[in-house]
Amino acid sequence: METHEINNRFLTFFENSGHSRVPSASLILDDPNLLFVNAGMVQFKPYFLGEVPPPYPRATSIQKCVRTGDIDEVGKTTRHNTFFQMAGNFSFGDYFKEGAIERAWELITSSQADGGFGFDPSRIWATVYEHDAETAGLWSRLTDLPAERIQYRDAEDNYWDMGVPGPGGPCSEIYYDRGPEYGREGGPAVDEDRYLEIWNLVFMQEIRGEVSPKQGGPVLGELPKKNIDTGMGVERVAYLLQGVENVYETDLVRPVIARAEEFSGHRYGANHIDDVRFRVIADHARSGVMLIGDGVNPGNEARGYVLRRLLRRIVRSMRLLGVHEPVLPEFAKVVRDAMAPSYPEISRDFDRISDVMRAEEEAFLATLTSGSRIFDMAAEETKRSGGGILAGDKAFQLHDTYGFPIDLTLEMASEQGLSVDEDGFRTLMQQQRERAKADAATRKSGHGDLSVYRQLLESGETEFLGYTELQAAAKVVGLLADGAPVRSVAEGGKAELVLDRTPFYAESGGQIADTGVLVGSGVELKVLDVQKIVPGLFVHRVEVVSGEVGVGTELTGSVDAHRRMAIERSHSATHLVHAAVRGAYGKRAAQAGSLNSPGRMRFDFTTAGAVSADVLTEVEEEVNEYLQTDVEVQSYVTTKDKALELGAIALFGEKYGNDVRVVDMGEYSRELCGGTHVDRIGQLGLVKLVGDASIGSGVHRVEALVGQDALRYVRKEQLLVSQLAGTLKVPTDELPARIEDVLTRLRNAEKEIEQLRTREVLGSAGSLADKAQDVHGVALVAERLAEGVDSGGVRALAAEVRNRLGSRPGVVALFAPAGDKVSFVVATTAAARDKGFAAGKLVSAFAAAVDGRGGGKPDLAQGGGGNPTGIEQAVKDLREALAG
Ligand code: ALA
Repeated sequence: METHEINNRFLTFFENSGHSRVPSASLILDDPNLLFVNAGMVQFKPYFLGEVPPPYPRATSIQKCVRTGDIDEVGKTTRHNTFFQMAGNFSFGDYFKEGAIERAWELITSSQADGGFGFDPSRIWATVYEHDAETAGLWSRLTDLPAERIQYRDAEDNYWDMGVPGPGGPCSEIYYDRGPEYGREGGPAVDEDRYLEIWNLVFMQEIRGEVSPKQGGPVLGELPKKNIDTGMGVERVAYLLQGVENVYETDLVRPVIARAEEFSGHRYGANHIDDVRFRVIADHARSGVMLIGDGVNPGNEARGYVLRRLLRRIVRSMRLLGVHEPVLPEFAKVVRDAMAPSYPEISRDFDRISDVMRAEEEAFLATLTSGSRIFDMAAEETKRSGGGILAGDKAFQLHDTYGFPIDLTLEMASEQGLSVDEDGFRTLMQQQRERAKADAATRKSGHGDLSVYRQLLESGETEFLGYTELQAAAKVVGLLADGAPVRSVAEGGKAELVLDRTPFYAESGGQIADTGVLVGSGVELKVLDVQKIVPGLFVHRVEVVSGEVGVGTELTGSVDAHRRMAIERSHSATHLVHAAVRGAYGKRAAQAGSLNSPGRMRFDFTTAGAVSADVLTEVEEEVNEYLQTDVEVQSYVTTKDKALELGAIALFGEKYGNDVRVVDMGEYSRELCGGTHVDRIGQLGLVKLVGDASIGSGVHRVEALVGQDALRYVRKEQLLVSQLAGTLKVPTDELPARIEDVLTRLRNAEKEIEQLRTREVLGSAGSLADKAQDVHGVALVAERLAEGVDSGGVRALAAEVRNRLGSRPGVVALFAPAGDKVSFVVATTAAARDKGFAAGKLVSAFAAAVDGRGGGKPDLAQGGGGNPTGIEQAVKDLREALAG
């Protein structure tokens, strides 16, 4: 049975029993605790917690999931995967254990002709939580499962939560016995390879805190209702039903391996080492395509970094299979063809996905080239100093600066007969990880621990009034100082403050936060920043200007309206620039980030190749022309499906729930957006693009000024031009020609000066030759020149002095200090060379004295060093070499 058919059957079965079919959520759902969505229930979390009333009592979905805890293990076994699909049915306070067990049993054991999966009931086992006799009883009563195939297990195995504080509950897992050839008798409690878990039924009923009940932590409270959350491993069911050994052999994954076989000429299944590589490629290519599809771009932090690692591991694995050509876009195609029946958006968006992969691959191949050079130097240094171990900090530098995976460093080192200080490397990595973790948490909240904010959220989300109001009365519901709850904060103090409702916009979607004041009776606060540290909770960073503020204080908030309006103009401009860029480059130009601050906007987008100045001029022209229509900006809330149907651009700001906010500017621009905007686009006045740059991996950045700031910019440029025209004494339109002319004359003058200087230097050749001293029959001229003679001049002078020495055996050594460096040249006459004095060898005799190195031919050699004070010593060493 094909995987898509498994998905269809699952959804149809549950739809037929009253479940709403819900599409998979984005892999990057906005949850501060999760890097990626890792279970089907994630998008329903607010319903379980009772934060939002569920729009349906029952739901079913196939959820894309990514788990990246053990990337290094992928491929080594056939069990680990970073991407997988979880089929689930969910009940929000509707049916409970009985309904979940009955349905699961029916779907897995009904014959395939009847729409089921047709598993042999005599091979099914179930596990239940050790204190949950009720569930064991239900299995016996509702199904044909005999008591000996129902096993009790402890919390470690049969309690489920998200791995973070939040909803959880005991669970009951369904296993399939693959037969004695796969392991020992005795059920899942004995052998989880032979008995393969296919489905987990979670009885979602409580809330866990910092320590999971899996590890003995306490249950903090009951959920408002008893719920069902289940997860069936689609890939596992697929390989059982397809009669293959593991996920890598299924219809969705094997084709990627087949493509890698074609490329490399190696065969999957021939040896373990190659197989690991094939599996890495197949797994990571799938995750890579799906992540980029959901808007992740390769980068150096968090999600972007995980994606980068995945993609680079593919390239690396292909190299180890002997393929050096670019491969990622090819693998992307195979993944698209396999996944598109269930995820049609992958086809629609394929050009962009492929571009991102290509750009990352090109960047990495360049990295490999430059990193290899650094590696060679480090290896040479290690050998020269007599060591056999490449230092940990070198391996770390290669990793950190050049993106070298450690296995690459290890392999290249062993090719050179070196080992690597892996412990040192790992220590540095660990330190870096800790720094990054601390940074990430601190950046958002100022503090690493988010639990206090989550507690505040329990009394409800902040109501945001700022779409329509810039002033509003509100009450303080939470107050923190230095990350800890406090009752009050007095004059001069700083605090984080949560209100029940607020007109202040919290930074998000590229729009920076509002500032302003909060005033109450006898108290005044300045609002410096507003962040949604956990979704739904607006945290105001404030300074108490006068009086004292406490929990319960009534305040009136006033947003700095002037500043807000400037920000809104920027944000509206970003939408228009986005629309124009897409007009110019097509859908594949996807937004990769933006920043809207007063009077200035920044917009990053991905596209293949360079961005031409002409196109940017067109974008600017088009945007400003459209401003003249002065259309009204309209925003409304609708469903995700409806928004997509309307063609709204929707890659960023993935949010919980099905309702989304759309912002329209006529027919020209339509985006999902939670930000605030001008009323009519005429308010923008003028949008002036001021620069563009590539910021790596196919990402481009345009910046623009808006309104009065744009005008000021134009005025400043104008002033600059007229000042230049004044100084150069030409009309402005003749400036380019005049500057060109001035530059040409300057270049010519510089050349002339250089020639004069060389002539002058050469003029000293005669007097230098006169200073020759006899060292055992060789005429030696060894001199320190004046500061700053360039190396070309030194060489010419040395050759000239040698000429003056004529047919005598003669050696000329000239040293030219320049700051803390020194360059030197050695020239020998033919008669000296006949006596066995080669310039290249003489250089080695004294180079160490000036901390330098050099080399060349017997007649002329040169080099440089970092210690001009050693020149005298160098001359002595040279004399000795001639004497000895
Ligand atoms: N949420 C449960 C799991 O991921 C079903 O296993």
